[in-house]
Amino acid sequence: MADAPLIQVAGLKKAYALGDVVVHALRGVDLAIERGGFVAVVGASGSGKSTFMNILGLLDRPNAGRYFLDGEDVSSFDRDRRAILRNRKIGFVFQSFNLLPRTSALENVELPLLYNGRRLATAERHARALSLLEIVGLADRARHAPNQLSGGQQQRVAIARALVNDPELLLADEPTGNLDSRTSVEIMEVLQRLNRERGITVVLITHEHDIAEYAERVIAFRDGRVVSDTAVARRRDASAERDALPPIEPEVQDGPA
Ligand SMILES: Nc1ncnc2c1ncn2[C@@H]1O[C@H](COP(=O)(O)OP(=O)(O)O)[C@@H](O)[C@H]1O
Ligand SMILES: [Mg+2]
Repeated sequence: MADAPLIQVAGLKKAYALGDVVVHALRGVDLAIERGGFVAVVGASGSGKSTFMNILGLLDRPNAGRYFLDGEDVSSFDRDRRAILRNRKIGFVFQSFNLLPRTSALENVELPLLYNGRRLATAERHARALSLLEIVGLADRARHAPNQLSGGQQQRVAIARALVNDPELLLADEPTGNLDSRTSVEIMEVLQRLNRERGITVVLITHEHDIAEYAERVIAFRDGRVVSDTAVARRRDASAERDALPPIEPEVQDGPA
């Protein structure tokens, strides 16, 4: 369904039972996200952002309401059908990178290829993973393990991994939450480039309003509801910002030896 929005949700509700109390994480969310869009979801901690992302990402199911992905009603899909669709269409990036330790960047990126049912040959898997590490500027770190990489580099490996099955939709939950501002600009440059050049739809969850301005549209959640949905008037351009950053100062020596 090429002309349907990539994402359409209606009356989405999700509640969690915590002992005797019921937490209403989503209280009825209606919205559409166009194919090729770059949307930020903002809101205070506990406002329902991650719950919303887990449903969009087919990791979880709503208690009520409909979710159309690519024009198809996926709200009633069981776990297996959700997993198949998720592998084919969706990539995830998280705040904590979630890379396997003691495993090279290349192998981390290859990992989703082992579960997509396509059974690529080893050489093909390596080539595909390497081409994605190139896109995120890390081809020269392919053999490094996560603990040999900076936080920003680990997040770029995680982005390469998210892309390996060629998703239409990239869901990023606080991807810059553990990164300094300079590194955050570099991560946003990658996300903006993937959106612009490859047409990947990006849904970026953040509680930082300045990070949300890299998106073209900002949807604000409060207490499980959408309270505003606006176009970004002056969208930030991470590529230009990165190029304008001063060079990193050389390490200051501890005085004369
Ligand atoms: N698995 C869970 N079990 C119980 N409560 C949860 C669970 N996940 C989220 N919640 C609750 O749902 C609400 C929304 O959480 P969440 O979607 O994580 O918000 P955000 O990502 O905006 O911080 C919060 O009150 C949170 O405590
Ligand atoms: Mg969250």
